[in-house]
Order: sequence, then structure tokens, then C-alpha cells
Amino acid sequence: MCGITGYVGDGDCSAIVTKSLKNLEYRGYDSAGIALLDDVLHIHKQSGQIDDLTVPSIPNASCGIGHTRWSTHGAPTDANAHPHSDCTEQVAVVHNGIIDNYETFKQELRDSHTFTSETDTEVIAHLIEDELKNGVQLRDAVENVVSMLSGSFAIAVTAVGFDGIIAARQDSPLVIGHAADATFLGSDVTAFIEHTQTVTFLEDGDIAHIKADSVTIANGDEHVEREKQTVEWNADAAEKGGYDHYMRKEIHEQPHAVRQALSGRINELSGTVDLDLDLSEEYCKSIDEIQIIACGTSYYAGLYAAELLEQHADIRVSVHIASEYEFRANRDPWRTLVIAVTQSGETADTLRALRKADGAGARTIAVTNTVGSTMAREANDTVYIRSGPEIGVAATKTFASQVITLTLLTVYLGRQRNSLASSQASTILKELSAVPGAIQQVLDAESTVRETAEEFANSDAFFFIGRRYGHPVSLEGALKLKEISYDHAEGFAGGELKHGPLALVTENTPVLAILTEGTNAEDTLHNVKEVESRGAPVIGVTSEIDPNPVFDITFRVPEVGLMEPVVANVYLQLFAYHVADQKDRSIDKPRNLAKSVTVE
Ligand code: G6P
Repeated sequence: MCGITGYVGDGDCSAIVTKSLKNLEYRGYDSAGIALLDDVLHIHKQSGQIDDLTVPSIPNASCGIGHTRWSTHGAPTDANAHPHSDCTEQVAVVHNGIIDNYETFKQELRDSHTFTSETDTEVIAHLIEDELKNGVQLRDAVENVVSMLSGSFAIAVTAVGFDGIIAARQDSPLVIGHAADATFLGSDVTAFIEHTQTVTFLEDGDIAHIKADSVTIANGDEHVEREKQTVEWNADAAEKGGYDHYMRKEIHEQPHAVRQALSGRINELSGTVDLDLDLSEEYCKSIDEIQIIACGTSYYAGLYAAELLEQHADIRVSVHIASEYEFRANRDPWRTLVIAVTQSGETADTLRALRKADGAGARTIAVTNTVGSTMAREANDTVYIRSGPEIGVAATKTFASQVITLTLLTVYLGRQRNSLASSQASTILKELSAVPGAIQQVLDAESTVRETAEEFANSDAFFFIGRRYGHPVSLEGALKLKEISYDHAEGFAGGELKHGPLALVTENTPVLAILTEGTNAEDTLHNVKEVESRGAPVIGVTSEIDPNPVFDITFRVPEVGLMEPVVANVYLQLFAYHVADQKDRSIDKPRNLAKSVTVE
């Protein structure tokens, strides 16, 4: 995910800002850039690694801002890298997040300004330029511009002739670091942790003027004092934002990831979805079958989507493990839509399957996290899941973002095909909007999950059961556990237990059962009784069933309709994490596994 850094002081701005960008590398990025200010702005930016970015020392520079970019609007090119400037090269802007209404401004500014990138960020520079032309001071100019923007973002701005940096936060983090003779800015404290542990976290709506020896913050018309806090992390721990592992950090990022997936795409009132897809109503109505192709966790997200698409878009769906996929000769390619679900956009098996579908003449959509990836480029259309980079090999937040994005696609297709009423669509979209808060409630209950994981860590095996939407989640829960704990774990459709797996159930094989909306919970309850009567301890992950007489342990899922199984999955992620942590496994890099599998 993008990272912002800033420095105001007498030190070597070039070296300090470059180093702070290096500190933010762990967030993942595809381009980087720096603006240094003396009498003019010196902007150096390019796609690729920070190590390849050459920024000369500017002896009289008084401040600098830096940025690592993880592409959302526009490919990872030199031109799209931040900082962005205005037509007069007087202003430099770096930005995290998404400006939902940037297109409107871009249309308005197009005649009077020259745009040099495809980003949403660049409009900010040109809007500030207009404010400055009208005699407005930089701080007020930033405030005026921010008040026009919608979306979630953090920005840092400097300008020729200005003393310091203006920083503004709206739903995307920014923290100020106070050192004896300098002031720092970062998306998180890792940016400057080796210089100071005394920090001020900005709050939503804050506009801060950062100078070497002072910081003034306003929120609306009010001048505000924000508390200075001491960060307890050392530089090593802060690399993962204070978490022991990227996986745990990424599990905790899910509320934000889901918000990003939804941002600017839904209209709850009208029950409509905007995914930037240009599929005509006529085409959508002509689709006979959707084929989903994917691997690993993405395959399970695909199974979840199949339930949604069949239920709400009235389309026959088949889900294919990508390495097993063939485009059958008896299928009409004109009436078959093929959706590749892939976090990386690079998985070789999925790419091969996508090429087979394309070769047969089917229309293809990539649902991916990675701008500029091979599948984003090769598919006819692309929908981004906007998770931010995932570093832990075991996929966590990308599963949630994939399911959320595929739900949006379901609503889009259902509406286009007239198979989903606007009132039903509104209900689904409302449920989606409630997911970040529901996930946060699960994350807040982590200590209970950790205690449970510690209690059962040394079991012989772990079984996960669920029906309908609970089935892919049970498969994903088992996959997570086996990937990182190396324990035997299996997921089953509840009804299948009696056809074989029940033979494996003993007092030392805990069963994690998913009983939420969309999982035929009453039927799954019969399966819970089956395993209980064989002595297996049962952990109920539920929003539906009175827990007392039934489960040994209950993980309570907040009520969010058909999205409840995705929320339940967060319990399973935390459970897998804490079992593996208890065993001191290599959680972020499990043996034999890779994040992006580019071989078939
Ligand atoms: C690898 C990863 C999994 C991932 C799968 C598919 O096996 O370890 O976490 O689910 O690839 O990756 P993709 O990038 O296509 O979603």
C-alpha cells in the first residue's frame, strides 16, 4: 500500500527522505519518488525499486516529501509515480488512498491545466495551483481543496517559498515525529522510528503545518492540540507496523481493505454498483454460463461467488481449479463469461486457463489485486479488489476483498440482467457496508481465539464443516491452518461427514463448525451432534444458534446477512495464526510455499 514520508530540518533532506522511504518498503509498492525544496522544487520519481531512485543531495534543501506508490489509478509508470506537481511546478503533492470524485475535477480542469499522469492525485496539485493564483496561502489552499474531495486519503504538500509541509488526513493514517531539531511525517512510525519515538497521530479532518521546530494543527475552524505519545517499538518491530508477523497485520487490515474495495463503487439507495465495467445490458442478458478459474484461496473465493451469482444473478456458474481447466467444445464461447480470480494476477495455472478461455473466444474478466499484472493486462476487463499489498504467503485480507468484490460483480450482473430487484440489491449493499465494522468486532475478540488456539494446538487433526456459503469458508479455514501450522486440517460440506470423514473424528480432533446466515445452520447442527457424540470438541462459529447447550466454545459472528461467513472466516484466520504461533512456525513464509506461483 502507498506510503508517505516527510522531513523538515537542517539535515541532508535527500538522504533522510530516501531512508524513510526504504523504511516503508515493507508496505509494498511499485514506484517511488521524492520532492526536495530549496528555492525551487526538485522532483525525482520513477517506477521500480527505491534503490534505483537516484536523488542528488540538495545542500540548501529545507524540507522533503516522499512517496511509495502501490498503483490503483493508472499503471505503475514514471509519470504516475508521486510526487505530482501543478502546471507551474510550484507545488508538490503526495497522496495515499482514493479520491472518489477526481474525475469530475479532471473534466473541469482539463481546458485550463495540463495533466501529465493518469492518477487521481494530480487533480489536487492543479486545484491548489488555482487557489494559490487567487492569492490564498498554501495552508488555506490545502484546506479548501480537501473540503472539495470525497474518498479516503492522506496528503502531504509543499510549495516554492513555503516554510515546511502541510499534511491532511481523511480516513488514511498520518503520524508526525518530533525530534530535537527536526520534524518528520509518515504513514506510520516506521518511516522515522530511528530518529524519534515521540509522535503525534493526526485525526480525520486534521490539517497540520509542519515546520522544523513546531507543528500547528487545525480541524475545521478550530486550532487543536494533539497529544504527543511515546512509541514503545524499536525500529525492528515497527517494520511490521508493530505486529509480530505480516500475516497478523494483514488479518487486522481487513476492515480497511473491505472499505477500499467498496469505496466509490456502491449506491445503497438505488441498489446499483459502479465497477467501471462496460458490459451492455444486452450482453449481460446473453450470458449462459460463468466459469470461474482460480487457485488456492482465490478458488475458495470463487466458490463463494458461485453461490452468490446463482442466487442473485440467475446465472449457471462452474468453478474450476485453474490447473484442471479446459474450455469444452460444447460450450458457446459467445455466451460464456470467464472470470479469473487471482490476488497476484500472475499465477501461472490461472494465466494458462485464462489464455485457454481467451483462445476459445470467450469474454474474460480478471478480478485481481495487482495493477499492471499480466492477467490485468490480458483479460478483456479487470476489476481490482484494492486490498493493498499482501506480504504473508498465506492469503488473508485478499480473500475478504475478493469475496466483497465478487459480491459487487454479482449485484452488477444481477441488475443488468433484471434478475435482482433494486430493493434486494440495496439490502446486499447495506450488508456489505456493515462488513468492516463486523470484522472489527471479531478482531476485538482475538484474545478468546488465542486462548482457544492454545488449548487445542496439540490436537491430532482439525476439521472444519459448513454448508452452502459456509462450505468454501470451511475449506479456506482448513487451508489456512495446514499452510502455517503444518497440522492435518480438512474442510468438509457438513452433509459429507457421514460419507467418510466421520471415521477420522475422535476426542482429539476439534471440529470448527460454521453456522451463520447462508449456511443452512439448522442442518449443520445435526452434523455438530454427529461429531459431538463421537467425543469431538466443537467450536461453533455462529450468529444463529443459541450456543449454551451445543458448543464447547463459541465464536460469535455479528449479523451481516450473506456476508456473515466472510466475517466468520476472520475467526478461522486468527485461530490458524495462533495455533501456528504457539508452535513457533515460520508464519509469514511457510515451508515449501510461495506467495506468487509463477510456474505451472
Ligand atoms: C499461492 C499462494 C496462495 C494463493 C494462490 C493463488 O499458492 O500461496 O495464498 O491463494 O497462490 O494465488 P493468486 O495470486 O492467483 O490469488
